[in-house]
Amino acid sequence: MLTSDDAAAETWGVTASTGRPFTHASIAGAHFRACRQSYRELLGLAGIRTGMRVLDAGCCGGEFLPWLTALTGPGGRVSAIDLDPEHVARAGARVAGWDLPCPVDLRQGSITGLPYADDTFDAVWCSNTVELLTDDQLRVALAELRRVTRPGGLITIKDVDAACFAVRPGDPHLFADLFRAAGATPGYAQQVLRARDLYRWMREAGIGAVRQRTVLIEHFAPFTPDVRAYYAPAFAELAGQATGLGLPAADWAPLLDPGHPQNPFHHPDGYISEGNVLAIGTA
Ligand SMILES: C[S@@+](CC[C@H](N)C(=O)[O-])C[C@H]1O[C@@H](n2cnc3c(N)ncnc32)[C@H](O)[C@@H]1O
Repeated sequence: MLTSDDAAAETWGVTASTGRPFTHASIAGAHFRACRQSYRELLGLAGIRTGMRVLDAGCCGGEFLPWLTALTGPGGRVSAIDLDPEHVARAGARVAGWDLPCPVDLRQGSITGLPYADDTFDAVWCSNTVELLTDDQLRVALAELRRVTRPGGLITIKDVDAACFAVRPGDPHLFADLFRAAGATPGYAQQVLRARDLYRWMREAGIGAVRQRTVLIEHFAPFTPDVRAYYAPAFAELAGQATGLGLPAADWAPLLDPGHPQNPFHHPDGYISEGNVLAIGTA
């Protein structure tokens, strides 16, 4: 059953069965494929090494599992959890078909109530997932991630920073205006503006030695099919949000109309950026 928090999030669309925005397999997988190279580089900063026991918190369809198991190697072990049973089933089917170097244990459950004993993991990887939590849920989730990580183990959180969205050609304030309006009240927009504060949230949760860096992921025309496949529907969703908030539809028209002379997907100088915050701390 959806809570009132979840129901508020659902208004952002592209939802999975959990009602959370931008989590449908079609969009979450597309986002991963569009940013694949940068995500691989960010994972490489998480300090995951051979032999570690690692948790993938918010694993979706298991996109990170080949990389995570390659990092831990045959002597390691990876657990993966997701709220959405359909994502877990899809990840399970993929894991069964992959020849991964170490075992993967998959479970359905929430990072706000993890089904693992204290101090189980040497490292936690949590990508694009805490942005889906309310402030209260984030507090609980960070305490849970800390609880299941052994003292001295690593907790890495990666979230999208909505403040770094930009498109060219286009108004440089387009996304800022949307997120200022949408983020004025608690909900998904506020949560994707919270990424740059993760260092503080993690410190407050008792996670030590937190270091954080924000990486700009940039795409230039001609865009790959993967880039188009994620950002075109994502921007259509954001345009719907913007017009619903009373922002001028004409400002968003170039993103929606392939025939518009300023449409970034058909412009030779098209450009798209998004920010990703990587915050790493020690349990
Ligand atoms: C945007 S997707 C990101 C998936 C993947 N980690 C990535 O970075 O590509 C967010 C995932 O978090 C899951 N999720 C949302 N809330 C969750 C919660 N409370 N506990 C566990 N998973 C959650 C969603 O079902 C979805 O699979």
